[in-house]
Amino acid sequence: MDASKLFSKSRIVPVVVIEDAAIAVDLAKTLRDAGAASIEVTLRTACALEAIELIAQQVPDLLVGAGSVRRPEQIAQIAARGASFAVSPGATELLIDAAISQQMPLVPGAATASEMIRLSERGYQLQKFFPAEMLGGVPMLKALSGPLPELKFFPTGGINAALAKDYLGLACVSCIGGSWFVPAAMLRDRDFAGIRKLTVEAMGIGAA
Ligand code: 3PG
Repeated sequence: MDASKLFSKSRIVPVVVIEDAAIAVDLAKTLRDAGAASIEVTLRTACALEAIELIAQQVPDLLVGAGSVRRPEQIAQIAARGASFAVSPGATELLIDAAISQQMPLVPGAATASEMIRLSERGYQLQKFFPAEMLGGVPMLKALSGPLPELKFFPTGGINAALAKDYLGLACVSCIGGSWFVPAAMLRDRDFAGIRKLTVEAMGIGAA
């Protein structure tokens, strides 16, 4: 299940690490009110699945998905909690088989031309380019997309406000993901006003 159509409403996807499920709903509402249309909750913390469920139930107008998906069984787990999409840093045949059989839209990660072609063979035209900045950023993505004109990318990893516009300016980039407008320190301090301000600025880059 290719996820190409999911991110057309807003081209910047917040990638969040939630350490305490109690903040999930307030964070989701803050992002939604600041203009985000989706949220990627990374499966890196003990409460991530609970956070996904709370957001799916209580903030239904924000599309919630799971990030850092890396094991096939996680597909059923996130589906049970109401996730609408999955994002993975890389992909294996087992992970892809699970996503396809359970009809979970997936943005699989790729870093090389061979990985990209393999994912394309499995039907994935939208792929996560990860970790984008460390792989060479905009020039690298431009070079890779030349011989792969049918592919679209969702770069994440090291993107910030200064770099976002350049990524979004590439024809091969559908959307970008990042955590720069949801800093860990602000989340820890429950600084939702601060997160809102940074998110409004970020969404402005996406809309420009
Ligand atoms: C991720 O970790 O999946 C994303 O790449 C987020 O990267 P960032 O925290 O560097 O924005």
